Amino acid sequence: MNTVDRKVFRKILDSLQPGRKRYVKIRSVHLSGISYLNIGNAGLEFLEDLSKAGVRFRVRTTVNPGCVDFDAAKDCDPQIVEKQSRIVSSLRALGASPSLTCIPYSSENPVGKGWRIAWAESSAVLYANSILGAYTNKEGSLTALASAILGYTARIGIHRRNGRKPELLVEYRDELRSELDYGLLGYVLGLKAGSKIPYLRLRKKPSDPSFYKQLLASFGTSGGAPMVWIDGVTPGSLRVRKPSEKITIGRTELEEAREKLSEPSPPSPGERIIFVSGCPHLSSEELEAIRESFRGIKNLSIEPWFFTSRETYVEALNRGLLKDLFEKGAKMFKDSCVMYCGLKATAPYVVTNSVKAAYYIHGNLGLRTLLKSLKEVVEEYGVG
Ligand code: F3S
Repeated sequence: MNTVDRKVFRKILDSLQPGRKRYVKIRSVHLSGISYLNIGNAGLEFLEDLSKAGVRFRVRTTVNPGCVDFDAAKDCDPQIVEKQSRIVSSLRALGASPSLTCIPYSSENPVGKGWRIAWAESSAVLYANSILGAYTNKEGSLTALASAILGYTARIGIHRRNGRKPELLVEYRDELRSELDYGLLGYVLGLKAGSKIPYLRLRKKPSDPSFYKQLLASFGTSGGAPMVWIDGVTPGSLRVRKPSEKITIGRTELEEAREKLSEPSPPSPGERIIFVSGCPHLSSEELEAIRESFRGIKNLSIEPWFFTSRETYVEALNRGLLKDLFEKGAKMFKDSCVMYCGLKATAPYVVTNSVKAAYYIHGNLGLRTLLKSLKEVVEEYGVG
């Protein structure tokens, strides 16, 4: 790569800090904005041009899901499949791992406490900062790409002294019964906090630690901050100075959010209904929990579609975890986000236990969505 190219990418970082030119070395990048449905031909050609020019990433780089499952491509327009495949090939040539997942922290891009990183994908950013104790701003697709090429990012936001300081103390004292409740709390918390970093106190820890994924992913859809301090969970939370500004959130606000994010009219008789779960992508532990909750039923009267990374899929398959789910009619998707090209094409009524999925499937794909927890889905649609 020649000097001019490097200057171009540094200018992207400099545009974030007018009048200053300070940088911080990073150890890892996660790229978003790689779905053909988002970046189109212009994005595809840009990535191909970079790879043909010999540009190479300097740090470990993983990538978000695309819009296609390469093993179930028949559901999608062949042109979209071909173009998504070219995007992945270019990213691979640039030096990225073709992870195609929004939970890179689970195995393909592990990061630790105190690591300086440059991640895009808000749910992964929030998890890395809030649960793992890493340091990353909510990077955009282009700034994360620039950081992968340069090996550093702008020293702004969370990378500055006091950049992680909590600014709003939030108490939630009511009960949280399911992963959906955690998602709703995250959504309300994001609305209340705006761009402030909240410090969240809960009455007790969740029965399943993966519920934090839902809390943080939905916080990322409504709030602007790159992290949530969770009392007793975020590394350093017990020592950090607590903010003086304080608010409380109650159960009623969660119910209001649920109503706002759910379709008011039920599906029509005979209408195709798909249960979408895996936003963010499901971990092996979550797949195990789903298998467990399906144990008492023969199948569901609606179609269960689950989204995960290819790595988790292969591991779960090898462990025999998926056999029971397939027998109960489940479809597994990998490489793809819930904004899957085949979902829009089939235009079903969508039931989901993810607030983030409901927000985007309704907002971006225009499909009717209804929020229900996994337990509610099994109780209402379980057969046998
Ligand atoms: Fe992941 Fe797509 Fe949801 S990137 S967090 S499955 S909207």
